[in-house]
Amino acid sequence: MPSPTPKLLRPGSTRAAPLLLAALLAAPAGALAATPPHPFQAAVDAAWEKYRTLDEGKNADYIPALAKVDPNLFGIAIVTVDGKVFQKGDVGSRFSIQSISKVFTLASVMETAGASAVEEKIGVDATGQVFNSIVAIEQMRGKEMNPFVNPGAIATTSLVEGKTGEEKWARILAIHEAFAGRKLSIDEEVYRSEAATNQRNQAIASLMHAYGRLYFDPAVSTDVYTRQCSISVNASDLAVMAATLANGGKNPVTGMQAMSWKNVPPLLAVMATAGLYDDSGIWLYRVGLPAKSGVGGGIIAVAPGRYGIAVFSPRLDAAGNSVRAQKVIRDIAVALRGNPYDVMPKP
Ligand code: DON
Repeated sequence: MPSPTPKLLRPGSTRAAPLLLAALLAAPAGALAATPPHPFQAAVDAAWEKYRTLDEGKNADYIPALAKVDPNLFGIAIVTVDGKVFQKGDVGSRFSIQSISKVFTLASVMETAGASAVEEKIGVDATGQVFNSIVAIEQMRGKEMNPFVNPGAIATTSLVEGKTGEEKWARILAIHEAFAGRKLSIDEEVYRSEAATNQRNQAIASLMHAYGRLYFDPAVSTDVYTRQCSISVNASDLAVMAATLANGGKNPVTGMQAMSWKNVPPLLAVMATAGLYDDSGIWLYRVGLPAKSGVGGGIIAVAPGRYGIAVFSPRLDAAGNSVRAQKVIRDIAVALRGNPYDVMPKP
């Protein structure tokens, strides 16, 4: 994978910013107040205002470092397929990507092993159970673990191309950077905290190995998986990553093809059916957008052909999904008619 052109986004910037600034400077006095915000910015502002004080849910605490994150942080970012950025709040605050990384590691495996290998070796059906369920592995003898629940995710990491853990890790980091359009690194504190407390994931990897459904050493696969979950991002990064999926795998900010467009539909299908774990059905019913959550408090959603959205708010519900992020994305998807199933009848 060629290394991406690093490009940092400035909060509130759009590609059209210089033109906009020139137009504003040329505007007669009094005209500024009358300029309505772009509908995307209006939707972001309205959702931010509506949920600013909502404090339902609670930080993940089974990874000790996550319990220490300020629960009030709140950022919303949208990036369109033509590279426009609309955002508000704590969009530059960094947090660990956690399970959202499963999307991009799956992309890497789809690129090298192919989408049908994912279907055969991991499975793509929802388990309908919590993300770290051991019962689900036992019930299915390690089969039909989709790439977003921990057993399937660690198996996906084990399938990443590379002869060693280091080679696999380098590929995983590179694809995340291609999607984000900038260099990324891991949050060492989160990595150490999870590595010291991930006995359940180690057990999951061993059990998958016992069923012949893990494709590399279990301890190394779990460690590389833990590293990928510790990648440090902000809401702006995640919106670019989601927008890259909305744009057929081509990063709309850097112009780099991060994955082939033909693998995007099956990837989005797994997001639609399993992105919010056992709440994926209700999510699709209400919102209609493929999405993925992480216990760090991020959620991304993709409006294919239109935009990617990311929200960061650390308080989670019982399924492990950010409470505020779900509400915000739902409101914005409705306001922008983002649901791809929402089609007006022909006259
Ligand atoms: O393996 C874990 O438990 C975490 N590193 C990731 C879980 C996660 O983000 C689930 N998401 N909502």
